[in-house]
Amino acid sequence: MTPDELKALVRTVPDFPAKGIQFRDITTLIGHGAGLKHAVRHLAERCDAAGADAIAGMEARGFIFGAAVAIELGIGFIPVRKPGKLPIETIGVDYALEYGTDRLEIDPGAIGEGHEVAIVDDLIATGGTALAAVELLRMAGARVPLAAFVIDLPDLGGADRLRGAGVAVETLMEFE
Ligand code: PRP
Ligand code: ADE
Repeated sequence: MTPDELKALVRTVPDFPAKGIQFRDITTLIGHGAGLKHAVRHLAERCDAAGADAIAGMEARGFIFGAAVAIELGIGFIPVRKPGKLPIETIGVDYALEYGTDRLEIDPGAIGEGHEVAIVDDLIATGGTALAAVELLRMAGARVPLAAFVIDLPDLGGADRLRGAGVAVETLMEFE
């Protein structure tokens, strides 16, 4: 599968969830067996090359790709969750989105000191979600060598913000 064929599997929905947003929808990509396998394999290769010994994925779309990458590499998966979902005392960070605000939480005991945790998500836009996840993982004692995404929206600057925070970034495709 070529990069253009993979990109063609992403559906664009104008004005969702708010007017002016071009929503890049992965539903169509993950419904395509060969496309899903290709995306997961390429994300996994990059996480492996970065020396990751665990994968963290952000609720909800990051769970799809993150868990698949962790299984592909035979390493553990850390769920980075939306608020109020984990049944123990969490650590959390509030952050801004392209279309609102939210909060992420993790189990502070989910990560051993000095672990190399790669972040995986479907898409990076402003980088607010990924930067919040990096902050949380570092608070829990992890190193974060890499964040890998299927889709980059470079005009929103998220990948540059992540690199500025000392995290390498890999993406499989870009949209304006
Ligand atoms: C989307 C996407 C990323 C985030 C990217 O998640 O899956 O996690 O936005 O935006 P950012 O770079 O500006 O932070 P969303 O919060 O919409 O949640 P979902 O996965 O539950 O759909
Ligand atoms: N998350 C943040 N911005 C997005 C966009 N334009 N499309 C899909 N998911 C997003």
